[in-house]
Amino acid sequence: MNILSPSILSADFAILGEQLKTIDEAGAQYVHIDVMDGIFVPSISYGMPVIKSIRKCTKRVFDVHLMIMEPERYIEDFADSGADFITFHLEATKKAGEVIDQIHARGLKAGISIKPGTPVEEVIPYLDKVDMILVMTVEPGFGGQSYIDSCTGKVKAVRKLVNESGRDIDIQVDGGINKENLSVVLEAGANVIVAGSAVFKNDIAANVAEFLEKMK
Ligand code: DX5
Ligand code: ZN
Repeated sequence: MNILSPSILSADFAILGEQLKTIDEAGAQYVHIDVMDGIFVPSISYGMPVIKSIRKCTKRVFDVHLMIMEPERYIEDFADSGADFITFHLEATKKAGEVIDQIHARGLKAGISIKPGTPVEEVIPYLDKVDMILVMTVEPGFGGQSYIDSCTGKVKAVRKLVNESGRDIDIQVDGGINKENLSVVLEAGANVIVAGSAVFKNDIAANVAEFLEKMK
């Protein structure tokens, strides 16, 4: 099933609760929440208190994307904040297998992510237990960047690995996705689509509706 996960990094934080209701009512299934620590990526976004606070605005799935070093330090905190999915970067930890176990121990879904320069083979050791693989299609750190075309091949390669594994693993793409290149990533095998600026600029409800229509 194809799923839309609008990234609230591009939302207007002065009216975040309102905008969460808008994407929820328009039918977006997930809420993508980007957490940045200023070390794994240059920027700093928001963390546990914000997630806890917006948890009461919507019942939709909270898809938390950790762009932080040593995510093993914070899994309990993000679980307590109301995350449903926790995705972390393989480049950020030496303990990826243990982090997946930590996430599962809290009854949540676990995702692993790779940056554009990280080979797809890095995900192979975790195919037997991970729930989602996030293929970054921009360098993580900022919204509003352009899709990196060479990442399409990586999505296809991950789709092949997932199909060969025989497991039902979601493939997420994140970065520079818009209504124009959406078909490219869907055809490559992605099924969880993150979109920040393409959802939150202009008419949010209309953007969500258009994405969902094209994802049918
Ligand atoms: C980038 C974040 C993305 C970002 C996507 O590091 O992981 O989720 O918000 O924004 P757009 O869709 O504008 O590229
Ligand atoms: Zn993200």
